[in-house]
Amino acid sequence: MLKDKTILLGITGGIAAYKSAELARLLIKEGAAVQVVMTANAEAFITPLTMRTLTGRPVYSSLFNPSYGSATVHIDLAREPDMVVVAPATANFLGKIASGIADDLLSTVLLAVDLQVRPVILAPSMNTAMFHNPAVRDNIKLLRQRGYIFADPLAGVLACGDVGEGRMVEPGQLLLLIKDKLSARADYSGLTVLVTAGPTREPLDPVRFFSNHSSGRMGYALARAARERGARVLLISGPTALEPPPGVDFYPVESAREMYALVMDKFSLADVIIKTAAVADYRPEETYAQKIKKSGDLSIRLVRNPDILQELGSRKGTRFLVGFAAETENLQDNAHKKLAAKNLDLIVANDLTREGAGFAQETNKVSLLYRDGRVEELPLMTKYELAHLILGRIRGLMVDI
Ligand code: PMT
Repeated sequence: MLKDKTILLGITGGIAAYKSAELARLLIKEGAAVQVVMTANAEAFITPLTMRTLTGRPVYSSLFNPSYGSATVHIDLAREPDMVVVAPATANFLGKIASGIADDLLSTVLLAVDLQVRPVILAPSMNTAMFHNPAVRDNIKLLRQRGYIFADPLAGVLACGDVGEGRMVEPGQLLLLIKDKLSARADYSGLTVLVTAGPTREPLDPVRFFSNHSSGRMGYALARAARERGARVLLISGPTALEPPPGVDFYPVESAREMYALVMDKFSLADVIIKTAAVADYRPEETYAQKIKKSGDLSIRLVRNPDILQELGSRKGTRFLVGFAAETENLQDNAHKKLAAKNLDLIVANDLTREGAGFAQETNKVSLLYRDGRVEELPLMTKYELAHLILGRIRGLMVDI
């Protein structure tokens, strides 16, 4: 169930820290990779050696440890996992996260985690009086509003002898919550997402065509991520070497005009339309029935293809429409113009001049340009991570509508 999943397990300084060893063991038994980050106080309760032995990975605890190899270990750690679990989470730690304080490795990692890409579960553990203190109540309320998930503590006899709420949930229960949240990030359930992907091919004769370098990776990552989040997904794709993600309705096409026809046929079913495809703007005016023979120079007249996104912009109604822009110069200017001209809600601008961005790469580096003029510059990340991030942003904007 947790195969291929990486969980960052944060441990803070509470007596329940011993339970995190059992949690790590259960997660590993389920196939997850577990990366532990401990606070200095946690090390007073449980040793890094215990966690290292259980997880088979080095345990991180310091912001400035040259032996880690990376000077930005807090960012690396924030970007690797599928989920972050802090167990136990002390009153002090909740207060720091609520206030944006980052004064050690774990709190800094938490500040760097994007909640729209990875869920964060907090498992509080503290004395009853502390748990009911208005400052702690306010912090928990605020954190819930921001999207943190709480594994609420249980009532019972506490380590200090008091009886009441504050005992950290048992590792087995926490495991169920982790599995539940990882399998059911269902913020798109009940919604239909139409994604176009890949290049188009514009035939010249039976053996030649005009096309581009799109591999389909970005669009397929979006289709996969939307399906994982519970959407019905319609994937309309030009020719690629990729397998369609499981569970999506797949419609292969070749040319821009075929893509146009299918998109126009299907778009009314969709709540969200994401146009990742690199559609050829031009096609040969004439498609020759036989292979063109060599004889001197050849001129080919190209004519405009339909602009699918433009047409969708004029017909979209209340649908959320996302375009992509692949640019080699004046990235934001050109993307802004497309956003306005095509009546988009969001445009994702790839800077094709940046290393690791754009066509055929596993990674991408983009800016998100919103209708209200905001621009969000994103770091280099995998296309799959970016897909989840984009879907998170879209969902956030749809809730606002
Ligand atoms: O497939 P990969 O290898 O993973 O690469 C991903 C990508 C670089 C192809 C992708 O991230 C991307 O940027 N896709 C859009 C590329 C593009 O065609 O940009 P454009 O600026 O030419 O078009 C702008 C928008 O209009 C796009 O949403 C495009 O789908 C749409 N369009 C363009 C022309 C046309 N005739 N009809 C359209 O709908």
